[in-house]
Amino acid sequence: MVITHDGKNRTSNAKLLQWVDEIAALAQPERIYWCNGSEAENQRLCEEMVASGTFIKLNQQRRPNSYLARSHPSDVARVEDRTFICSESKADAGPTNNWAPPAEMRATLRESFKGAMCGRTMYVIPFSMGPIGNPIAQIGIEITDSPYVVVNMRIMTRMGTKVLDALGSHGFFVPCIHSVGAPLQPGQKDVPWPCESDISRKAIVHFPETREIWSYGSGYGGNALLGKKCLALRIASAIARDEGWLAEHMLILGLEAPNGEKTYVAAAFPSACGKTNLAMIIPPKGLGSWKALTVGDDIAWIKPGSDGTLRAINPEAGFFGVAPGTSYDSNPMAMESIKANTIFTNVVLTDDGDVWWEGIGVEPPEHGIDWQGNDWTPGSGHIGAHANSRFTAPASQCPTIDPSWEDPAGVPISAFIFGGRLSQTFPLVYQAYDWNHGVFMAATMGSEATAAAIGVTGIRRDPFAMLPFCGYNMADYWRHWIKIGGDPDFKMPKIFRTNWFRKDENGKFIWPGYGQNMRVLEWIIERVHNRAGALKSPFGLMPRYEDMNFQGMDFSKEKFEAITSINRSEILSEIEDIEGFFTKFGQQLPPELAIQLDEFRKRAEKALEM
Ligand code: GTP
Ligand code: SPV
Ligand code: MN
Repeated sequence: MVITHDGKNRTSNAKLLQWVDEIAALAQPERIYWCNGSEAENQRLCEEMVASGTFIKLNQQRRPNSYLARSHPSDVARVEDRTFICSESKADAGPTNNWAPPAEMRATLRESFKGAMCGRTMYVIPFSMGPIGNPIAQIGIEITDSPYVVVNMRIMTRMGTKVLDALGSHGFFVPCIHSVGAPLQPGQKDVPWPCESDISRKAIVHFPETREIWSYGSGYGGNALLGKKCLALRIASAIARDEGWLAEHMLILGLEAPNGEKTYVAAAFPSACGKTNLAMIIPPKGLGSWKALTVGDDIAWIKPGSDGTLRAINPEAGFFGVAPGTSYDSNPMAMESIKANTIFTNVVLTDDGDVWWEGIGVEPPEHGIDWQGNDWTPGSGHIGAHANSRFTAPASQCPTIDPSWEDPAGVPISAFIFGGRLSQTFPLVYQAYDWNHGVFMAATMGSEATAAAIGVTGIRRDPFAMLPFCGYNMADYWRHWIKIGGDPDFKMPKIFRTNWFRKDENGKFIWPGYGQNMRVLEWIIERVHNRAGALKSPFGLMPRYEDMNFQGMDFSKEKFEAITSINRSEILSEIEDIEGFFTKFGQQLPPELAIQLDEFRKRAEKALEM
């Protein structure tokens, strides 16, 4: 059978052409289509998905050019159990990643992909992480049998023919192969969300040495939009280690003080722990005329610039944000960003063709259709939108997008902030005593499970918010951070930890969070510029009540104490637990971190004697 092959004349890259032919021969699609990234192509794919039932077109007055998709109930978030780092040696993947011998995994993948695209179109998506032509940008080519992936990639990355032009005939690209794993037999009717329902056959696989990605069986988020976690974090972290830069799960935020001074910070919080919220923060009234500008909400690539500052770019072009809890109160800039040209996945459809979710800030509709496609009313006893339902929206639609967000030079970072979701023990904010202490603080960060990953429960250590995203041995990653910080040519940012999530005895958050987090950011910026006071504690340097600006806010000293107090037995069990965690890394643990643990213990014992 001859398969139609539309658009291959757009490239003369022999390696690319050969690879596409090779995957087509394996996966046996009905036709091949090279995406050009145009608006007309996008409209056509969206219309085709409306016709096939994958997309529902929303009310054009309320949500112009926007669509709703509902995934299969078995395919709603990242699958960490089925995510693999297949380095040649198991030790290079480290104790926190799933690993399988590369040859064995390649054989399994060949078996899974054999005929996997039967009856479907195979799309070739040329994309750039980072503005096209940016010296730090990386080109990837994703092959997929999902048109949903194509239209999402068009929002999340720079995509289309212009990327092939930049690639040229000999350029390097990261090959990213994706299939939903649901071939169609002749005459078989398709379903709205095809995927492999047997979770043990799903696999999100990375070969860090050869810089390859293979993803089989899921169509959702980071499992399928391969530019995001797979390329921009797992593969990029391995490239960054080799080349001396950093690929991080961080938002990037610009803060302009009332006197006009601009400071950029980058912050790593685990999945669904508030990056999008902080990236789009609106400083509260009463705090003076601070301005906050968004550079990115999920991923930062950070390279030392010629002046020695660390310069960050957002490699993405869109937001794939958590919908529940997003409202005009909690995140007005996200609400503005999703007014049009947005794809919603797994939220409630209202009878007038708009979307709704828990915590959207308006009353629920009397009747709607829930994320599983069933009739739903507020009294039905279950939530209408999935807890990991998401919106995909262009970053350019964010009213507070920073004028420098696409600057090839990146923005200079003055502070790194690490924050987990912890209802106990950890104070609102503290600063590292020095770089290595900061690495220790980030390496030992804990966080409570969220809906962003399937099958994760309880509290777990999520070092640097990179546990699911580091493409090599976590201990080597820590060593890389220690090494970069030790380079005398670099002006290193100061390091902080935050925790918005401490709860009182009734299980209520003590700190109001959201916009009020600006007060914590102000203290951080004042510390960066050596202007604010702090007190030594076992954790690090902490603000006293009077060191923070509570102007225009009713927050008592008692409440402040409730989110900054340090409990003896809690800190001792934390130290013991870190010791156990570090043991996992054996001889690979950087000695600097063992020293930091000792110092932490000494500080705790000394403080608690008193
Ligand atoms: P990924 O996209 O999964 O990487 O996550 P993210 O870190 O961007 O998550 P997002 O900003 O969407 O996090 C949303 C969750 O964090 C919701 O449950 C919010 O209610 C909660 N959240 C964000 N900021 C705050 C805050 O300041 N205080 C409290 N208590 N919750 C917050
Ligand atoms: C995360 O889980 O950290 C996300 C969403 O940002 S996903 O792209 O699905 O990984
Ligand atoms: Mn994320």
